[in-house]
Amino acid sequence: MMQKSDLNIRFATVEDISAIALIERECFFSPWSEKAISDTMCRQESIFLVAEAGGEICGYIGCYYVLDEGYITNVAVSESFRRRGIAKKLIEELILRARKLELSFVTLEVRSKNEPAISLYKGLGFCDVGLRPRFYHDPDDDARLMTFYI
Ligand SMILES: CC(C)(COP(=O)(O)OP(=O)(O)OC[C@H]1O[C@@H](n2cnc3c(N)ncnc32)[C@H](O)[C@@H]1OP(=O)(O)O)[C@@H](O)C(=O)NCCC(=O)NCCS
Repeated sequence: MMQKSDLNIRFATVEDISAIALIERECFFSPWSEKAISDTMCRQESIFLVAEAGGEICGYIGCYYVLDEGYITNVAVSESFRRRGIAKKLIEELILRARKLELSFVTLEVRSKNEPAISLYKGLGFCDVGLRPRFYHDPDDDARLMTFYI
């Protein structure tokens, strides 16, 4: 069983890209390619964090910002590491860094049927700010826009 002290949240580096892409493929029907991950990670104005447990990358969060607006592009935790507070910790760390950068908010889109993710965001204080009907395909779904105001 993983102890809380085993978990390390740190900035992602290019060496982490293949591990991140592996989790993307495990978690999403249309996963981001290594190139797309690398493009977000290497942007000047981005915050890309990984969670490491016992030396293994088990989750990540990517965010880019424009002026004082943060856009979370992806959050995922490997299936065998779920329900241990890892996504919560990743988002809390991201918000901490966003606050230091004086961002006003961080926002994201989430499938309206993705109950685990919606419950995670609500629990952290994200609020509903809009809906994009039929935004997702395979399977079709609406996108809920959720924002955390800093
Ligand atoms: C959504 C996801 C990132 C959550 O990761 P996680 O590390 O398991 O989440 P945490 O352990 O930090 O959960 C924190 C809280 O979120 C909520 N939550 C997380 N998973 C949940 C689930 N399956 N069902 C209901 N609530 C859930 C709970 O409130 C939980 O607190 P609790 O465990 O004390 O009840 C993970 O399920 C995942 O990677 N899913 C696939 C990818 C994805 O959908 N990403 C989001 C795209 S917008």
